[in-house]
Amino acid sequence: MTDHHPTTQTTPKDFLFATLGGLFAPGVAIFMIVMLFLGIQGRMGEADAAPAAEKEIQARIQPFGSFVAVDPNAPKVELTGEQVYGQVCANCHGSGALGSPKFESAADWGPRLAQGYETLLGHALSGIRSMPARGGEPDLTDLEVARGMVYMANSAGAQFEAAVGKDKVPTVAELTRGREVYATDCAYCHDTGLTGAQKLDDAKAWSVLLKKSREVLYGNAIQGTLGGPAKGGNAKLSDEDTRLAVDYMIEQARVAMPGVKAAEAQVGG
Ligand code: HEC
Ligand code: HEC
Repeated sequence: MTDHHPTTQTTPKDFLFATLGGLFAPGVAIFMIVMLFLGIQGRMGEADAAPAAEKEIQARIQPFGSFVAVDPNAPKVELTGEQVYGQVCANCHGSGALGSPKFESAADWGPRLAQGYETLLGHALSGIRSMPARGGEPDLTDLEVARGMVYMANSAGAQFEAAVGKDKVPTVAELTRGREVYATDCAYCHDTGLTGAQKLDDAKAWSVLLKKSREVLYGNAIQGTLGGPAKGGNAKLSDEDTRLAVDYMIEQARVAMPGVKAAEAQVGG
């Protein structure tokens, strides 16, 4: 075998082209980048003179674009009831899995609706029996859970409106009743701090608790937490009375916080 393969040999001409190409390619790239930059600048300049229609489109897409891409700290847009239902609750409530009340079934929901909005929401937030807290989706906000709950309840004949009671201002009558309940069923732990119960004048502990919504605190008081017994250990206490005791506790705790003035409805003593 004396034949050499002809194409493996680099002629001076090949070499020259290859070298020029190698030098030239970055030049082309730089040229293109510069052109791109000029193009963008040009278009930015044009925006001022853009026809009204184009401006309108820009205005329409702008808030959406800035929410998604620019500000990761912008408040999240909360899901609608239908979305919450579809993404989370339908997994069980669509078919009645695990004995859950089925979507659109007035028979399933009837007796449950009779418990009232607050109780249902408390159960949806804190869970009850095989119903997991927040439908097993801890990232849902209170309002989203409320919306999902209302979407289902209304499908079965209720006429609820989704709301969470952050801004509730208890009436004097409610706080008076709450104070009575508190005195008989809650004070011996929450006045003393027994077993780690948050004392009402413990601003630090309550600043943590008050980050939760009223409904979550209601739910936890009614259902109990790891350390706190359900309804303060008094099974005979109604859900409503437990909620009023929580309202009273929230009110007292808020008053004990530095810089917080007593609400008008505050009960003396
Ligand atoms: C893993 C299954 C499952 C998912 C997911 C689920 N639920 Fe439930 N849910 C149940 C079951 C089971 C019950 C019945 C519990 C019982 O009464 O024993 C129930 C009951 C309820 C009740 C009635 C509680 C009462 O007091 O009678 C509400 C309200 C409720 N769910 C809301 C929701 C909402 C809102 C979602 C979605 C965010 C959701 N659920 C997702 C299983 C589920
Ligand atoms: C036997 C003692 C005891 C009694 C009685 C008691 N609690 Fe508690 N409670 C606790 C303890 C302990 C905690 C703290 C639990 C924890 O950190 O998980 C707590 C926590 C709470 C919380 C905060 C729940 C949360 O979200 O972390 C609320 C609200 C509450 N109790 C309400 C009540 C109400 C209302 C009553 C009376 C009806 C009551 N408690 C009676 C011991 C008690």
